[in-house]
Amino acid sequence: MRFISLVFFIFVFANAQTPYQKGKLTYMSKGCYSCHGNNLEGLHRYPKLSNRAKGFLSYKLKRFRDKISDNQQQEMMIAFAVDLSDEEIDNLTTYMQDYVQDNLSEKYNDSYVPEGDGGS
Ligand code: HEC
Repeated sequence: MRFISLVFFIFVFANAQTPYQKGKLTYMSKGCYSCHGNNLEGLHRYPKLSNRAKGFLSYKLKRFRDKISDNQQQEMMIAFAVDLSDEEIDNLTTYMQDYVQDNLSEKYNDSYVPEGDGGS
């Protein structure tokens, strides 16, 4: 299993090229998805990040990196932003702004035809 994950990661890292892809990798590897969602859709008090202005998002991330927060809720972002480099923030915010959901077709498979399966 470890070997398979290793091969998987090497494969993923070796293929990361565009800022969008690099941003996606950082988003997944830093655990951002656990609060902001796999599809950047947000959840409850965790803001949605998809298709929002890059300038605003990087302004916020740099503030969190400088340990500035406006309220207690935002405090939890600091731990995740402190070690981000300028380049990582650039890639992350490109990923967020340009985000396109690419797994819809896998999620909703409506090809199943119920007729004639004998299960009445
Ligand atoms: C533990 C949960 C958690 C994790 C993990 C997390 N965030 Fe956040 N994030 C928050 C909360 C809470 C806020 C602030 C919400 C508010 O302003 O009330 C926030 C705010 C933000 C904002 C500003 C959005 C806005 O509308 O102000 C950005 C951008 C952001 N997070 C990006 C990230 C990135 C990138 C990562 C991964 C490196 C990450 N977050 C990981 C909880 C989390």
